[in-house]
Amino acid sequence: MTINPNIVSLIDRCERLWAAEAEVARTYWDSPIRTVETDRLWLLRQMYKELLDGALPSLHWARDNFDGIAGPDSRSEFLEEIDVLREEFIHYKGFAEVFEALAGTTPDAAALRDLGAWPENDRLQALRAQHRRDHGALGLRAQRFTEGGYCTLYSEGMKLAAREGVDGMIARACAVVFNDEFGHMLRGIAHLDDAVGGLSSAEWAQLGELVEQQLSHRIVMRNAQFSNPVAPDRLTAIQNGACEPLSFDYQRAFGQTPSRA
Ligand SMILES: [Fe+2]
Ligand SMILES: [Fe+2]
Repeated sequence: MTINPNIVSLIDRCERLWAAEAEVARTYWDSPIRTVETDRLWLLRQMYKELLDGALPSLHWARDNFDGIAGPDSRSEFLEEIDVLREEFIHYKGFAEVFEALAGTTPDAAALRDLGAWPENDRLQALRAQHRRDHGALGLRAQRFTEGGYCTLYSEGMKLAAREGVDGMIARACAVVFNDEFGHMLRGIAHLDDAVGGLSSAEWAQLGELVEQQLSHRIVMRNAQFSNPVAPDRLTAIQNGACEPLSFDYQRAFGQTPSRA
């Protein structure tokens, strides 16, 4: 089976934006603005993302769909969702442990709702909600596809493995998350693959548009999470494609590379 050319074009449109999100994290690690305080803040925000944006929707879904568990399809769907819940909780736990090494005790989940939220992340969630409202299933596909942003925070975090202290801890937490999140992104692509035949070329174009908008906003969200290590001019440039494209791992995702016409 060959990789659908529409998926390949969609991925092509993403590669510079994924690279931009990677640049934000990479810049932060050695940035002069970095302090113990900014470390506490980004970790708190990441805990929020893993627990409240990641684990909680799956917990709600499991509760809402519990009474409907019956045949093989519903059982495997349920299992898939509680697997995601478990993984997101493990991610939360990993970053919470780094936070505790820096700050002593973690806030409880209720307090994290306030302490871990930040406006640029709220705006990303609002943009996704608007895309779902305005474009229905296409909006949801865009969201699934952009979730995790090609795991660039985690791959950049893993590069700190040779360092001592908190950086080494960050690298270990990121390594735990990386494989799972790559899987979550593949889930988004698989859902897209199922629908491949059903999308018109206008819908593919629209999907590309939504995905670009969400990825572009992710760069702003990530920069704010890290207390803005990337200066405004550079931020605008990388949102507009100034980064070298990060090449998508087709072998890992599809077991093959696309044949390009
Ligand atoms: Fe996660
Ligand atoms: Fe995830």
